[in-house]
Amino acid sequence: MHKDVERILVSEQEIEEIVGRMARQIDADYGKEDKKLLLLCILKGSVVFMGDLMKHLKTPLEIDFMRVSSYGADTKTTGNINIILDLVRKDIKQCDILIVEDIIDSGRTLSYLKRYLEFKGAKSVKTCTLLDKPERREVKFDADYVGAVIPDEFVVGYGLDYDEKYRALPYVGVLKRDVYSK
Ligand code: IMP
Ligand code: MG
Repeated sequence: MHKDVERILVSEQEIEEIVGRMARQIDADYGKEDKKLLLLCILKGSVVFMGDLMKHLKTPLEIDFMRVSSYGADTKTTGNINIILDLVRKDIKQCDILIVEDIIDSGRTLSYLKRYLEFKGAKSVKTCTLLDKPERREVKFDADYVGAVIPDEFVVGYGLDYDEKYRALPYVGVLKRDVYSK
């Protein structure tokens, strides 16, 4: 275990099981109808989850990326969503977009993005998150697919960072408090 991690919250094996289960749910919903599934990875935190999820899916799909920011180099949200990398597609009106997110905290990022993509004319917009911290919600938001509900703790690994570090850890772990309260 990494020296800055207090404890492992979701192990590699648990992640594997969660991702497999989510892929089966998504296949069941998107596989049957005439859908054009577009997995939309929200950079950077969702990149590891998205890579694993897409390997498990049997439904034909395309991938794309957006980058938004709501955080500074801190563990608290600023409440503002900035689009740093936008989705540019001519076929957006034909796309059934599934937003792939690492974690829902205040709910602001996904509720904003969902409305934004609907406004841009996507055929449908659903949301999928590996982790959910419902205790931290500031706006009402429920994802369509949730991997694991976790307590109100700051976590890193499997794509999630603190100050751009720890993304490559293969598990999700609680970051030691003294790392960010110095
Ligand atoms: P929301 O808009 O407050 O729901 O924020 C979601 C974003 O905040 C996620 O995409 C993460 O980038 C970041 N975030 C929230 N909680 C954590 C955490 O515990 N560890 C790392 N990043 C987090
Ligand atoms: Mg993120």
